[in-house]
This record gives sequence, structure tokens and C-alpha cells, in this order.
Amino acid sequence: MIWKSVLGLLRSSAWLLSALIVFVAFHSDGADAQTKNRYESFRFGVCYYPEQWPESLWEDDAQRMQDCGVNTVRLGEFGWALMEPREGHYDFSLFDRAMDTLGRHGIKTIFGTPTAAPPKWLTQKYPEVLGVLETGERVNDQSRRQYNYNSPVYRRFSRKIVEALARHCRDNTNIIGWQIDNEMNNENPEDFSDSTRVAFRAWLQQKYHALDELNARWGTVFWSQTYSDWNQIDLPFPTPAYHNPALMLDFKRFISASATSYLNDQAEILRRYRPDDFLTHNGAFKNINYYDFSRALDLHAFDNYPTFEATPRYPTGAALTLVRSFNGRMMIMEELAGPAGQTYMLRTPAPGQTRLWAMQTIAHGADGLLHFRWRSAERGAEEYWYGVLDHDNVPRARFEDFEREGQEMKKLGPQILGSKVVSEIAVIKDFEDEWVFDHQYLTSEIKVSAVYDALFQAASEQRHNIDFVSPTADLSRYRLVFAPQLSLMDRDLASRLQKFVENGGTLVMSAHSAIKDRDNAFTMATIPVGLTNVFGAELDSFQTYPPPSGTNNSVRFDDGNAVPVSVFAETLRPTTARVIAHWAGDFLKDSPAVTEQPFGKGRAVYYGSLFNVDAARYLVGRYARELELKPLLDNVPDQVEVTCRTKGATNFYFLLNHGDSATTVNVSGGFWDILTDQMSPASITLPPYGYEVLARDDRSPAGS
Ligand code: GAL
Repeated sequence: MIWKSVLGLLRSSAWLLSALIVFVAFHSDGADAQTKNRYESFRFGVCYYPEQWPESLWEDDAQRMQDCGVNTVRLGEFGWALMEPREGHYDFSLFDRAMDTLGRHGIKTIFGTPTAAPPKWLTQKYPEVLGVLETGERVNDQSRRQYNYNSPVYRRFSRKIVEALARHCRDNTNIIGWQIDNEMNNENPEDFSDSTRVAFRAWLQQKYHALDELNARWGTVFWSQTYSDWNQIDLPFPTPAYHNPALMLDFKRFISASATSYLNDQAEILRRYRPDDFLTHNGAFKNINYYDFSRALDLHAFDNYPTFEATPRYPTGAALTLVRSFNGRMMIMEELAGPAGQTYMLRTPAPGQTRLWAMQTIAHGADGLLHFRWRSAERGAEEYWYGVLDHDNVPRARFEDFEREGQEMKKLGPQILGSKVVSEIAVIKDFEDEWVFDHQYLTSEIKVSAVYDALFQAASEQRHNIDFVSPTADLSRYRLVFAPQLSLMDRDLASRLQKFVENGGTLVMSAHSAIKDRDNAFTMATIPVGLTNVFGAELDSFQTYPPPSGTNNSVRFDDGNAVPVSVFAETLRPTTARVIAHWAGDFLKDSPAVTEQPFGKGRAVYYGSLFNVDAARYLVGRYARELELKPLLDNVPDQVEVTCRTKGATNFYFLLNHGDSATTVNVSGGFWDILTDQMSPASITLPPYGYEVLARDDRSPAGS
């Protein structure tokens, strides 16, 4: 009876009904919010350095953290000298006590293994652990990241300290996860030590087995480089003329493999002693293929410092999109807290910006976030890197921001956990292609990462989610895929691209793609290698415009639009494809610049230049329109970024105002405001750097 009248009442109001559905949907965070793996709840907190402060402060620190909603700290990652003050003498008591204190306040620990900063006794007694520069000079040990991954001595000591630590902590209930080392390849992305040379030769031997094979695939007959002994092979030290591109690419692959194997040493030990903890690593730097690297990890962590960028909105979004792709799960281990610098100073974020940037990380898929750092260090190399608290421990605006963020994360975290950014557009990111460009960069104006930023920006401006994916990813869930300068092509990739198109996908490939094999060598096949039938076009010729270059040419499309080109232009020879754009100038004038061909159920587009932001805007616009991809939301002001995360039938929309002025977003009804915990009005005013998280259950009438 009662139910009947309740239902009658609800039927009388569609608004009320949708309110009830969204209310129920967003208040079932208990078991539902828990994912099934080792990283099982949303983490919020700070990086904490108990060793840098008197113990008498710890209790108050923990209490204040708890009051701010902190449930996690990361600690320990630079504490080796305290943990092993003398060779083989371990003492973890300071960290035990700190974790106890924090634990009493409900704060769990992500323990950083301390191997990014070896103690003096180690580097002084065993100098072979130190890295060597390409000049042959050994690096000095007065800072951090001074070791090399291939030193057997360093590997032994790093395994020993990690094993001693893991064994010591095997029953510690305050620990939930581990960060292995810290920001590998930051500050030392290459190494030229003797150990690395020996390891490189061994790695090559394992890869090629026979020296003849290596000679043939590297093409060492060129410039009389033929090797008759493995020991003749060297690291790419400076030489009078240029290095062999095959050697350069293998060197990068080897660096990545060395970093991964070093990481896996520690992962294996930690899994043995602490099988239920999650493992992660923080950062994204040069010369690591992170798809391989993060395979042994439960999630990859990013250190997010937007003020390194002049205009961070798109590059930060692109970086987060990339890190999310590594192994599908992401958290932020270090998030900017305020002004920052070392010997230099970055600009100070405007009021509200640090919270906006923190929310941007969640908007792009982060399942947790720690700010760097709790209190600004009084001493040491990072005195100028400001934490949530100033050096004097007095809470000011940054602390209040953090407090507020903590309250918001308490509401948002459990609901958002387990949701994913779902995209219809993808961009293939192959680390090996980036490494090709590191050496054969064509012109100093080509910046490979800028291509990803451009495609991200275009998709974001047009209100689409976008993913970056590995060259071996399953493309079938996407409708529009971009292939930017995939210089290296192999049979498997070509056939997967072909299948994607055959099955109905739209593939847009840029110039300088499918030109070489995985040895970084040209073949006698016509370009695009392995894909000429899919595109119905061949590469005919090209032009490179050396710097300083402005707009040197433009691509004139059949619909009257033109895209400026500054550095690289290819002319195409269609076999069966239709030409949809021509070059506007230079001796290329009127020759084919872009072709399109239906293939199977899909379509293959060959864009004869690199994707700059104008090209990305045009191509995302044209093909998203033709494919009728629906924008996430309509009529959102330019200064507001929109992303969407999905869990089941629930969509979480993030509205992020990157502007320094207030702005109004008109959303239709039917959204639940996660942060205020009530139905959202149809018109929302976002203050400067303000944001909202709105949820809609697509089963509800309002969402349909
Ligand atoms: C990161 C690093 C931290 C700290 C921070 C601020 O790169 O992981 O240890 O140095 O930057 O500079």
C-alpha cells in the first residue's frame, strides 16, 4: 500500500524519479566500490619524510593528516643511509615507529624502496656502482640517482636492502603497497659504464645469437663496421661521424630492458614477502617502454607537476592519458602542492589551481593521489619545493586547500574507484618510434611528444575522450584510430591495422609511417610498407623544411579547409584511393597530400604530413563527424575541460574550469552532483579554476 503511493508519487515526477535513481546509484559505494585486485580502495594523502623532522612532531602531523582525510602516505624512498647505516647492519626502527604513529590515525603506508639514493659507504667503497656519462666521466655521488642498473654490485646491494626491508616488514599491517625505487631514468636516462657495456654485449648476444645475424641486420658493411667479435661492440659514445641507427635503437631497447629487469628484481622479492600488497613505480621518463616495464606492477603512478608547462591544460591531460595506458591503472604518487623549485623556481599556482590540477588527474583516470609533500623541507636540495605546510608548520592557504580536497576525495574516491575512461578514439603510441626520432630527428622543430599533445588537445576541444594505446593493443573497441609517425612497421602491426579497418574502423596515418622494419632499416618494399593495399596509395616523394620554419606549405582539403604545415610534407601516389587534399605550395603544389580509401567495412586515410594541432583539429573534427561520434557534453565553454569516467551504467562527468574567470555551464537535468551530494541544477557556475563532478545513471529516464 505504502509502496503503491510512493510509486504513484514518483511516477508523477520524472525529476524526482531520476533523483532517486541517481541517489541510490551513488550511495552503494560499499562492496561495489572495491576492485578485486591488490589496489582496493581510493588513496589520498601525502609524501611524508619522518626522518627529516624531530619525532616529537610526528603525532601532531598524523593527527592533522587524519583531520584532512588522509588515508595514505608514501615514505622511505630516500632512507637507505638510515636503514643500512653500515654495510650489512640494518635498522628500520625509525620507519617502524613512524608507521605505527600514522597507523594509529588510520593512515596506511606505501613504502618506497630506498634504492634511488644509495648511501655513501656503498658508493665510496664500490665506485663501480656509479653511473658514467657519455664523456666517459663517472658521475659524482653527492646527490641521488647516481647508480647504474647494470652494476652487478649495485644489483646485489639493492636486492639485499629490499629483501631485508620486506622480511622485516612481512607482518606489518600498516603497509598496503610499495613504490619500487623512485623515478627511474629521471636524471640518468643513459649510462656508459663498464658494467653497462658488458651487459649490452650480453643482451645483443641473446637477441641475435650469431654475430653474422647482427652484422646483417645492423648493416655493418656500411662504413666498414663489420664485427668479428662481440667485444668489438661498444656503447654509442661520441664519435667523429654518425652512429648506426640500428645500434642506436637497440641501445634504447637495452636501456629499457635493463630498467625493467632491475625493477623486476625488487618486484619478485616484494611479491615473495608481501603477496597481498600492490606494487607501483612513479614517473614517466625517457628510454623506457612502459608497456613492458609496468607489466609486473599493479598500477603505474605518475608524478604530476603542471607548472613545468607554460600552459599545462593539454600537455598535462596528454601525459595523464599516456600514463593511464601503461598497464590500465594509474594513481598519482606526487602531485604539486604549491610553489616549487630547486635552484630555480617555477611559477606559483593561482589560488584554486592546485585543486583543479589534482581533480584533473582523477578526471583522466587516477584512482588515488598523494601530494608532494607534507611539509616543506628545511634543509637539503629541495628547500624551495613547497609542501602542503610551510617550513614553519603554520597552516596557510595551501593547507586549507588540502583539507578541502581531502573532504572532496572522501566523497568522490569510493564512487569513482573502478570506473574507467572509455574512448572511441585512440592514438597508437609506440615507444620505439619515439626512440627512432631521438636519433634521426629530421629537424629540431619536430617534437614527437607534441603530436600526442596535439591529438589530445583536438579531442578534448571537441569533447571526446581519447586513449593512447600500445602498438599491440586491441583496437577493436575503437572507431577512429590515429597512427602518428609509426616509422617502424612489422607484419603483425600491419595486419592488425588492416583488420581494424576491414572490421569497420577509420584509420588515419601520418607521414613518415611504415617506412622501415624493426631493425630501423629501410627495406626494398614500397612505402607504406605492408599497407599499400589498405591505403590504396604509395609514398611518392617528400619535402623537409629546415628551421627556422614558419608556415611553409598547406594541405588544401576538398571541403575548402586548409591546414598549415611547417616542417614535413609527403606527396602521395594514389593507386586506388581518392585524393581528398592537395599541397598548396612549393614544387609539390597540386600534388596529392591526403588520400582516403574505403577498405572492408572501414576506411584508411593517409595524411601526408605530421599531425600538428591544426591537422589534429581538422582530422578529429572531420572523422568524428562522419562517424557520428557523440561529444561527451554539448555547449560547454572553451575554458572548461570535460572528461568522463564510466562504471557500469554510470557516467561520471568532470567539468574543469581552467580559466581565471567564472563561467557557466548549462547541463541538462538528471545529473547528481557528487561533491555536494545532491541533484545538480541545470545551470552551473564554476568559479575561476573551479570544478564539478556530475554523475548520471544512463538507466535513468533523464540519462536516456
Ligand atoms: C620528483 C621526485 C621527488 C622530488 C620531486 C620534487 O621528481 O620524485 O623526490 O624530487 O620531484 O622535485
